[in-house]
Amino acid sequence: MKSWVVGNWKLNPASVKEVQALVDNLVDGVSAQSDIFQACHIVIAPCVLHVSQVSDILERKQGLIQLACQDVSALTATSGAYTGDISAQQLRDSGVEWAIIGHSERRQYCHEDNTALLNKMNHCADQDLGVILCIGESEAEYEADRTTQVLADQLSVVEDFLQQSNKVSADYLSNKLLIAYEPVWAIGTGKVPSVQDVTNVHKFIRERLQSFDSTLATTPVLYGGSVKPENAKDFAASELINGVLVGGAALKADSFLDIAKAFSK
Ligand code: 13P
Repeated sequence: MKSWVVGNWKLNPASVKEVQALVDNLVDGVSAQSDIFQACHIVIAPCVLHVSQVSDILERKQGLIQLACQDVSALTATSGAYTGDISAQQLRDSGVEWAIIGHSERRQYCHEDNTALLNKMNHCADQDLGVILCIGESEAEYEADRTTQVLADQLSVVEDFLQQSNKVSADYLSNKLLIAYEPVWAIGTGKVPSVQDVTNVHKFIRERLQSFDSTLATTPVLYGGSVKPENAKDFAASELINGVLVGGAALKADSFLDIAKAFSK
C-alpha cells in the first residue's frame, strides 16, 4: 500500500507571501526528486483562505501534490444561506480533493460532534470529496486507560455513515477515506507514543473498520502527533502505520519532505 503524508498547516502561515514561498519550495523539492516522492501520496491542507492560491500553483504542476482543506460545511453539500460556511461542492470546484474532519482542535474549540461529523461525511461523499477523519483520546482518557472506548465512539460515525448512505460506492469507500489517529496529548507537545503502542491502536482501528464493512479492510490508518524527520522512519517501519498527519513539521518544506522520504518505500 502506498503511504500517505499529509501536512495540516492549521492557521499558518500568516501571509500570502509565506504561503507562496512554502508551496514553491515544496513543489521544487518534489519535482527535483519525483522518482522518490512518487512512492507516497503527498497532501497539503492550507487554511481555506489560501486554498485557491495553492490550488492554482498545484494545478500547474499536475498530480505532484494533492490538496486538502481543514473543514467542510455540515449544513449543506452545495450552496445556500449558511453564512461563513464552505461547502464540499465549492471545495471540489476549487481543486480540493480531501477534507480533514474531526480534528481534536475543532472538536475542542468548535464543538464538532458525531452528528456534525456524520453530516460532513455525507456531504463529502455526495460531492466525491475524500475524508480524512481524525480520532484520538485526550491525556486524561489515555491515563484512565479509556483509549479504545473513546476511539470506538469516534469511529461509530463511520458505521452510521455506512448504514445511512446506501448510495456510497465501493470505489468511494476504498479510495476516499483515510483515518488519522492523533492522540491529543501528542499534538504539538513533543510527547510521542511508542511505535508499538501506535501499532496496537491501529490494529484496533483496522479491526473495528473491518467489522463495519469488509471494504474498509484496506482503509489507510495514519498517525499524527509530534511527527518529525527524526522519528518518521520509526513510524514508517510499522506495517500498520500507513502514513502520517503532520502539523508543525509541515510548515517547512525541508522537514516535511524529509518525513515524506521516510514513507517513500
Ligand atoms: P503536530 O505535528 O504539530 O504535533 O500536529 C499534529 C496535528 O495536529 C496534525 O493534524
